[in-house]
Amino acid sequence: MNREDFLMLNEKIVYFDSGATTLKPKILSEATSNYYNHYSANAHRGDYDISLRVDKEYEHTRKLVKELLNAKDTKEIVFTSGATDSLNKIIFGYFKYILNEGDEILLTKSEHASNILPWFELASELGLVIKYIDLTDNEVKIDNINITDKTKVISLAHVTNVLGDIRPIKEITKLAHEKGIYVLVDGSQSVPHMKVDVEDLDIDFLAFSAHKMLGPTGLGILYGKEKYLNKIHPINVGGGMNSSFSYDGTREYNDLPHRLEAGTPNIAAVIGFGKVIEYINNIGIENIHKHEIELKKYAVSRLKEIPNIVIYNENTLGGIIAFNYEGIFAQDLAIYLNKHGICVRAGNHCAKMLKDEIGIKNTCRISFYLYNTKEEIDYLIEVLKNENIKNEII
Ligand code: ALA
Repeated sequence: MNREDFLMLNEKIVYFDSGATTLKPKILSEATSNYYNHYSANAHRGDYDISLRVDKEYEHTRKLVKELLNAKDTKEIVFTSGATDSLNKIIFGYFKYILNEGDEILLTKSEHASNILPWFELASELGLVIKYIDLTDNEVKIDNINITDKTKVISLAHVTNVLGDIRPIKEITKLAHEKGIYVLVDGSQSVPHMKVDVEDLDIDFLAFSAHKMLGPTGLGILYGKEKYLNKIHPINVGGGMNSSFSYDGTREYNDLPHRLEAGTPNIAAVIGFGKVIEYINNIGIENIHKHEIELKKYAVSRLKEIPNIVIYNENTLGGIIAFNYEGIFAQDLAIYLNKHGICVRAGNHCAKMLKDEIGIKNTCRISFYLYNTKEEIDYLIEVLKNENIKNEII
């Protein structure tokens, strides 16, 4: 789809690492360079035309994100520096102030570091208890969610970054909310690939990054229900987020969402992200999802032609394939594929506890996006079928 919009695809590479970051369409750099070259004023601080234009475009992107997520209000959309920043702001700005010693947090062992380490830190600080949901065939099943009187938060990736399994978030929030438990969702691998409707799913907090959905690096989204965001403590304080302060230490902070956006934001990124959301809307997020599922099915069926390939997530519905070539270390295989112009990620993919579930530490990961094709998969298979593969690696 739309391959001509991605200049990097002229470089004769096969890019299968969109789970790490996606390629960027030309419209992104056009939008950001237009801002830098023609109206590079600050946001929410000036009373002159170019500054007012910046305000308008910056807030337009917020509106597009609100519509993308079907959030109730633009106040619920906060710009951050990435999904990791969003998760840290939620965990240390909100949960730190409402959780107490002995409270339990439910995670899984397939979470990315950014949804584990902030919880470990907070657990050490407050004496929280971290528990892990048992997985069935590496996936979260609603019956495996063991809630106790002490469970306060369920914090999960919507789609995991190694296995691409889609979690039943709607069922999870229903179960959790019946018991007054919060649900925090890491949408880094879901929002770029499928419709995520925060109202329908009834998510309390959601985090994701722009760069994994054709957007700029250094920009993330923190979504939270307004009633919770109203109580979040700003981790960063400074300009742009206060309405007044005085010599005696009294201060008043702005309303949402500006209260949570201290300092000059990443304006170029926000404006560029707006163009990218419009671009994705024109294609249709459901079409992207369908395209990836089709690519995954095709790739799995072709990979099975190679007896030495072991696939760890054949049936999951995200556009991700975790695999190994028996007898070849994952990173060596990635280096071999690179020699043939194919980009995949190898290693533990920042999900360092997943090895306890799948019994293997390192895998190669293919992750698709809208610009990938079946022809690229055919080329991968040809390269993997090379009878001299082991010699070429040594
Ligand atoms: N979280 C990114 C990945 O899965 C970096 O590769």
